[in-house]
Amino acid sequence: MGAGYVGGPTMAVIADRCPEIQVTVVDLNAERIASWNNPELSRLPVYEPGLDGVVARARGRNLHFTTEVDAAIAAADMVFLSVNTPTKTRGVGAGQASDLRWIEACTRQVAAAAQGHTIVVEKSTLPVRTAETVQTILAAAEQGGDGAIKSFAVLSNPEFLAEGTAIADLEAPDRVLIGGQDADALEALAQVYGHWVPAERILRTNLWSSELSKLTANAFLAQRVSSINSIAALCETTGADVKEVARAIGTDTRIGSRFLQSGPGFGGSCFQKDILNLVYLCRHYGLTEVAEYWEQVVALNSWQQRRIARLVVQRLFNTVAGKRVALLGFAFKADTNDTRESPAIRIAKDLLEEGAQLSIHDPKVADEQIVRDLAQPAGMGESTWHSCIDPVEACQGADAVLILTEWQQFRTLDWSAIATVMRRPAWLFDCRAIADAEAARAAGLQIWTVGEG
Ligand code: UDX
Ligand code: ADP
Repeated sequence: MGAGYVGGPTMAVIADRCPEIQVTVVDLNAERIASWNNPELSRLPVYEPGLDGVVARARGRNLHFTTEVDAAIAAADMVFLSVNTPTKTRGVGAGQASDLRWIEACTRQVAAAAQGHTIVVEKSTLPVRTAETVQTILAAAEQGGDGAIKSFAVLSNPEFLAEGTAIADLEAPDRVLIGGQDADALEALAQVYGHWVPAERILRTNLWSSELSKLTANAFLAQRVSSINSIAALCETTGADVKEVARAIGTDTRIGSRFLQSGPGFGGSCFQKDILNLVYLCRHYGLTEVAEYWEQVVALNSWQQRRIARLVVQRLFNTVAGKRVALLGFAFKADTNDTRESPAIRIAKDLLEEGAQLSIHDPKVADEQIVRDLAQPAGMGESTWHSCIDPVEACQGADAVLILTEWQQFRTLDWSAIATVMRRPAWLFDCRAIADAEAARAAGLQIWTVGEG
């Protein structure tokens, strides 16, 4: 249930690897389902390298996309819950706790429509002990009411895929985690993954450990990003280079070299949400110091985004009012069309607030998405934005260009072509430290690179 960034790719890979299992992906959103069924594979609702090939092999064979939710539940031996669990925007825990209305609605629907024995698998990232809610709702249905005999087992099987590498992460996972008490259900799910994942990589835990492991993994990863971004700021003021520092510390095998790339701050649907969730849980259990500790990871991330917008304004003689500023990249990272919590949103909003005219180029993000994210349609006049089909067009007449997403093509931009169309003095703010700085400098641009003193 849920044909989003998690449900779509995950179920497509399961279908691809387990040809004898019929996989049906359901969603209430008919438009989304129609896109999954689109014969043109470039128009799938989720952009992931390799996804088109997987869908092409399995769709129509044992992979189906439909809005007929109840029929799919009734026919299923196993139901994966992959619906959205955003942070609550109102009521108790607003801004921190997860909004569980969709997971609850979905569970109630499973309770009502299921037939016989059904294994229910939590796939969405959920706060610890959500399984208890799921179990309670399902247990009430077991006791009947409608006379039908049904039973349920609940498992937690958190998703560790990262967007942009989802297919590779699913096909060769570091580990698959399955939490639960029911040995038969656990075995049944382990067997599904056993089609392609080596047995030693399938870890079994209790339900609560599994749920908490997901939050902890994301909290640790986000913490690394905030840690390196905090050091980047120090590098900029002291003359150190954060790339050199990252290389130096990354060679220590206890630290490891990955996830030490400083940038405009982390985005994505998971990191901030999961940490805020952790913070909420800690407060709930009276662990104030633990809550405050993790809260700082998010605070530093917001600070990093704000400080980039501020320093752009400063370098442009303390005003961007009426000036054209080009943003290269709007997705929260490369190789995805997802913009959820993208640092580009905060930075763009701050610059618009200062009166800038933004020209935005992202190879995969649709204009309609940018309209929603900036809560403002594209248009003319002061303090507005429009999208451009290529980087040179975006830089036309601009005083500054910001690289916000590490798309491969931004590593090899033609800086002399860009520099000729910009207004002088022109600035490059390389927020991902990926541009060919020498070429940009040679073309006459002034350069700020994150973490470079
Ligand atoms: C993350 C987790 O990696 C994944 O296991 C979990 O299932 C979901 O959340 P995702 O959000 O898709 O995946 O992307 P990830 O690659 O983790 O990047 C998150 C953010 O951190 C991005 O904005 C990225 O640009 C940023 N990041 C990452 C850095 O700024 N520097 C790094 O070194 C790594
Ligand atoms: P994620 O990144 O966790 O996959 P998405 O927002 O991309 O999150 O996808 C979640 C999907 O779940 C959405 O397409 C939404 O329409 C769907 N959904 C929400 N509630 C239900 C439900 N009760 N039944 C079926 N699908 C649902």
